[in-house]
Amino acid sequence: MNSTQTIYELIGEEKIRQLSKVFYQEIAKNEVLRRLYPKDLQPAEERLYLFLLQVFGGPGIYSEQRGHPRLRMRHAKWKIDSSMRDHWMNAMLVALDHLSIDPTIREAMMSYFVKAANHMINHA
Ligand code: HEM
Repeated sequence: MNSTQTIYELIGEEKIRQLSKVFYQEIAKNEVLRRLYPKDLQPAEERLYLFLLQVFGGPGIYSEQRGHPRLRMRHAKWKIDSSMRDHWMNAMLVALDHLSIDPTIREAMMSYFVKAANHMINHA
C-alpha cells in the first residue's frame, strides 16, 4: 500500500457505499443494536457513508452537512458498554468481510474501527 494514497483513493466510494449498506443490513438484523437506531435506517446509512468517505480521505460532505463529527458526544445519548461495542464491531466486521479488498487495507480499516469503537464506550 502506497502510504501517500488514502483508503478512499485505494478502494473508491463504491466500496465505502457497500460497507455502509451491509453494516446497516446487520443493524437491521441485530435486535440489541436495532432498538437504538431510528425507525428509518436509510438516512442513518447515508450519514455513516458520508462520514466514512471523509474519514478515509474522501470529500468532506459529512462536515458540510453535519458540522464537526464530535462522535463521542453524538453517541452520549446511548448507553454504550463493551458488550454494545462488540455488537457494533461484529456488524462492521461482517460488512468488511463482504468487501473484496486488499488484506492490508482491510487491516488498516479494521484498526481504525477498533479504536473508534473503543472510544465510543461511555458506560461500564
Ligand atoms: C460502539 C458502538 C456504537 C453504537 C452502539 C453506535 C450507535 C449509533 C446510533 C444508534 C446512531 C444513530 C443513527 C443515526 O441516526 O445516524 C449512530 C450514529 C452515528 N454513528 Fe455510531 N455507534 C457506535 C460506534 C460508532 C463508531 C465506532 C463510528 C465511527 C467509526 C460511528 C459513527 C457514527 C456516525 C457517523 C453516526 C451519525 C452521526 C450524525 O451525524 O448524527 N459509530 N451511532
